[in-house]
Amino acid sequence: MIQLREVSKTVMSGSEPLTILHPLTLQILRGQFVAIVGPSGSGKSTLLGLIAGLDAPTTGEVLIDEVDITKLDEDSLARLRGEKIGFVFQFFHLIPSLTAYENVAVPMEIAGVADARQRAASLLEEVGLTGRAHHYPSQLSGGEQQRVALARALANDPPIVLADEPTGNLDTANGRHIMELLRSIHAARGTTIVLVTHDAELAAMTDGRLVLRDGRVVEDKLALQPPDGARGLPEQVEGRQAQSERAEHASQGERTEEPRVQSPSSLDFARDDAGALEGSAPERSS
Ligand SMILES: Nc1ncnc2c1ncn2[C@@H]1O[C@H](COP(=O)(O)OP(=O)(O)O)[C@@H](O)[C@H]1O
Ligand SMILES: [Mg+2]
Repeated sequence: MIQLREVSKTVMSGSEPLTILHPLTLQILRGQFVAIVGPSGSGKSTLLGLIAGLDAPTTGEVLIDEVDITKLDEDSLARLRGEKIGFVFQFFHLIPSLTAYENVAVPMEIAGVADARQRAASLLEEVGLTGRAHHYPSQLSGGEQQRVALARALANDPPIVLADEPTGNLDTANGRHIMELLRSIHAARGTTIVLVTHDAELAAMTDGRLVLRDGRVVEDKLALQPPDGARGLPEQVEGRQAQSERAEHASQGERTEEPRVQSPSSLDFARDDAGALEGSAPERSS
C-alpha cells in the first residue's frame, strides 16, 4: 500500500520559494490500478517522483507498505526501490547500444538475478516482442520500445509499477496496446499500477483517479469501485490480495463515500490538454 500524509513540495525558483505540490494526503491500496491526471505542470511527475523516493518531500511522510521512505538512507531507499518499484517513462529511456533483450537482461545480470537470461526472454514474450529481441532500440517503433521498457520494469516482478505518461509519445493504437499490457499485467500479477496520463479514456479504464491542478488535488477518486466496476471490463481480474485488502478496508469504514461512477466532466481538461504534450514525435513505423 502507498500512503502519503500531508506531503508537499516547495522548491526555490530564483530567490522565491515556489510550492509545486500543496500538502496532500492519499492512499493507494495494494493491487489497485489508478490514474493521476491533470494539465501539464500540475505536479503529476513531481508526485510520482515522491512516491518513488526519487525526490524528497518538503513536508510529510511517504509510506510504502508501512515503511516511511522519507526516513531511509540512500542505500536502503535504493534497495526498496529495486525490490518494490518498476518505472516506465514517456521517452522509454532504453540504452541505445543494447538490444531489446539486453536492455531487459543486463540490469538483472548486474543485480545478480540467477536466471536473468531466461527471465528476460520470458518477459519479452509477455509483452509480445520475442521476434524483436535482438533488435536495437533504433530499429524498433515507439510502441515496441515502450514494450521493452515495460518488460524491463517488470524484471524484478515489482509489486508497484509507476508509469509517467507511458503512452504520451505514442500514436493511439500503440498507446492502447501499452494500456492493454498494463491491464493484463495488473490482472495476472496483482501489481499496483499508478499511471500518469493525459488521456481521459485511458484514465477512465482504471480503478480510481486523482486529479491535480496547480499542485493541488482537485478531485480524489482513488475511492473503491465495485469489483466489476462501471468500467465494463469483465475480463479484468484483481489480485487476491487486493480483493481481501479491499474487503478489509471497506469493513473498517475508512472511506464512507459510495463508489462513484466516473463523471466525464472531471476529465474534460485532460482532453483539452492532450494536444499540448511535450515532444509528441510521430511514431516510427515498422
Ligand atoms: N526542480 C524544480 N524547480 C522549479 N520548478 C519545478 C521543479 N520541478 C518541477 N517544477 C515545476 O513544478 C510544476 C509541476 O511540474 P511537474 O510535476 O513536472 O508537472 P506535470 O508532470 O504535471 O507536468 C511545473 O510548473 C514545473 O515547472
Ligand atoms: Mg510530467
